[in-house]
Amino acid sequence: MTPRRHLVLIGLMGAGKTTVGRECARRLGRTFVDTDDVVTATARMSVEQIFAEAGETEFRRLEHAVVADVCASPEPLVVACGGGAVLDPENRRALRGAGIVVWLRAPAGTLAGRVGDGATRPLLRNDPIGALTRLERLREPAYEAAAHLTVDTDGRDVDTVATDVLAAFADQEQSV
Ligand code: S3P
Repeated sequence: MTPRRHLVLIGLMGAGKTTVGRECARRLGRTFVDTDDVVTATARMSVEQIFAEAGETEFRRLEHAVVADVCASPEPLVVACGGGAVLDPENRRALRGAGIVVWLRAPAGTLAGRVGDGATRPLLRNDPIGALTRLERLREPAYEAAAHLTVDTDGRDVDTVATDVLAAFADQEQSV
């Protein structure tokens, strides 16, 4: 029997990876893992502190280790990845190998509305809409390369998006 794969959610900050991921995990009866939570628990520092005190490179190193651990878990999980996790080609390969990867998409203006002032997200500080617009352009190729599936979240509530994600996940799980 084919082992059941992780359901992996990727996308920019504000895409809804955590809220949709929690709802998908609840419906599937799976454990939910947010890579940022594991990074901060391991480092015993917040994301802002890690960026400020150790730098983004150290954050990415910790994130890489968390992605590797999550991918190695024999228990099929629902995983919300930090928005930059799939910039690393090794992370992309590992996540695609262990899971079905779903890219949650929304325009930068919508994402900016969801993240507010971006205070807890170092890459958004001062100018969330400008930063999200730039990141969207820069990261599109990485999200594209990582994703098996894309689900639009613009103007849609968590329940509706979770229903779409799970339907697409079930279809894809049959075919890989
Ligand atoms: C980041 C996204 C954040 C967090 C960190 C960097 C990024 O996670 O990992 O602030 O590079 O997009 P969320 O996407 O869960 O906000």
